[in-house]
Amino acid sequence: MPVPVPVLVPGLDLLIELGPPGVRGTRRRAVEEALRTAIREGRLPPGARLPATRDLAEQLGLSRGTVSQAYEQLIAEGWLIARTKAGTRVADGVATATANATANATATATAAANAAATDPRLPARPLPSLSPSQTSASPTPPWSGPPSGARHDLSPGRPDVSAFPRAAWARALRRAIHEAPAEAFGYGDPRGRIELRTALAGYLGRVRGVRVAPDHLLICAGFTQALGLLTAVFAGTGVGAIAIENPAMPEHLAIAAARLGVRDVTVDDQGLRVAELAATDAGAVLCTPAHQFPLGVSLSPARRAALLAWADERDGWIVEDDYDGEFRYDRRPVGALQARRPDRVVYAGSISKSLGPAVRLGWIACPPRLLEPLVAAKHLADRQSPVLEQLALADLLDSGAYDHHLRTMRRGYRRRRDLLVRSVAELLPRARITGIAAGLHAILELPSAPSSTVLSSTVPDSTVLCSIVPNSTILSSTITDSTIPKSTIPKSTIPKSIVPSSTVPSQAIPGPTEQRIAEALRQASVRARLLGGYLRGPVAAEAPPALVVGYATPSAHAYAGALDALLSALRALG
Ligand SMILES: Cc1ncc(COP(=O)(O)O)c(C=O)c1O
Repeated sequence: MPVPVPVLVPGLDLLIELGPPGVRGTRRRAVEEALRTAIREGRLPPGARLPATRDLAEQLGLSRGTVSQAYEQLIAEGWLIARTKAGTRVADGVATATANATANATATATAAANAAATDPRLPARPLPSLSPSQTSASPTPPWSGPPSGARHDLSPGRPDVSAFPRAAWARALRRAIHEAPAEAFGYGDPRGRIELRTALAGYLGRVRGVRVAPDHLLICAGFTQALGLLTAVFAGTGVGAIAIENPAMPEHLAIAAARLGVRDVTVDDQGLRVAELAATDAGAVLCTPAHQFPLGVSLSPARRAALLAWADERDGWIVEDDYDGEFRYDRRPVGALQARRPDRVVYAGSISKSLGPAVRLGWIACPPRLLEPLVAAKHLADRQSPVLEQLALADLLDSGAYDHHLRTMRRGYRRRRDLLVRSVAELLPRARITGIAAGLHAILELPSAPSSTVLSSTVPDSTVLCSIVPNSTILSSTITDSTIPKSTIPKSTIPKSIVPSSTVPSQAIPGPTEQRIAEALRQASVRARLLGGYLRGPVAAEAPPALVVGYATPSAHAYAGALDALLSALRALG
């Protein structure tokens, strides 16, 4: 299929790091060097499109002239090329570290993939075990079904699907149908179409800092299939148990438990507790470093380093679920952990939050050692993901329409998040809201169970809202001036802090139980999830009642009504 003619659409994101500000002139050089590094490391592969100078200048807080001069310099040096309609791109033939370092592994894997694509016999390498594991974990049935008849849907984990870019998708699909070569309609490479893998490698490098060559990307049916393939491969390569954050998606627990033992690792205000992980026998860990699901904390730099050290020591795998990494509101995005160790971190994501879950497209950036068994597992699972959708997504990425859609959605979700924070402060001053810096959902914690927490009127307004779960097991996302934009919420309206009972004289105020909350929401025809539904073990029983509110889920026009229904129902509980 010919490469789609790119349309210059403003609004491409690019994740690059600049050093601290210096004397005049060094900003331009810093941009140049950051781009050279990104190209050298393979995060910006040949052909990858760069943002318009105006957009990058805005993202970096620099003048447009500075960025233009940096681009011009790199064009002059042969790193970039400028084409009138195609914008500025990384020049072909630029040597990248990723490409060089993985060339041999790629050749082997490509041969395996090609063989698998054309040969229905099983690959020579032992296949992942499909036998049930010896796990003792018995998660509750994960599938909660489609939204019930509730009038107001604030279920977490979903984007506003009414905003699906139908017109752009229809155009891209039509182009794919008309322009795809005949071979595209047959069995193909189990890794997916090269057009999509090339576009994605550029996009993930540019926006999330992921270091992956197109040959090491595997296209699959969302993160759900990615996790199924990975756990099958782990089981087949001697990994006995996988550690999973607590709390987490019950579905993920169930998928993992079908093939591996599952170990719980709790989460605090710095993210996954690596010391707890190290005390288990797990050979792999599933985590959400950019935005813990559902608590919303991001893995601190110290924990990131500790987690990578754990993987080295254990010779273990880190599965990075980057489910909503593009949605960060108050600070620059946190780059992917994978960028630090592409050989140890298996990066996986999907378009379920950016476009919509129904398309069922996701990806795995495969470390070289896992590529071959993952390709084999994908081949056995369903041979390949649907081709026309892959070509349509490649078209959206290449044309810039994907970035454009993301920017529009990010602005809208941020406004919704701000309204949620303001409304809770006004209407439920004893509640607190956390996990708000990123993503499509927030945690709304209601006045807590009497034995574990107190509401303090003695703590100064500047106090950081902090962990209140018994034993400090979970929940420490903070609301600080840096996580709420100053315009969002006047300081005087920030609710009094809820702090651990050990630090403040006790003055217990009973709050509603999760059952009462669930009943109140049912009566108000509001759908949201109780945090307890994501927790495992005794923690669940002791935690204060909290809701996971998916503020992205309703359509834009239905959001205010849904929020009103939710807060009115909770207010009525006292
Ligand atoms: C934590 C987390 N990871 C991943 C996903 C995406 O899953 P999929 O790509 O299979 O739709 C979701 C969707 O709800 C999620 O909440």
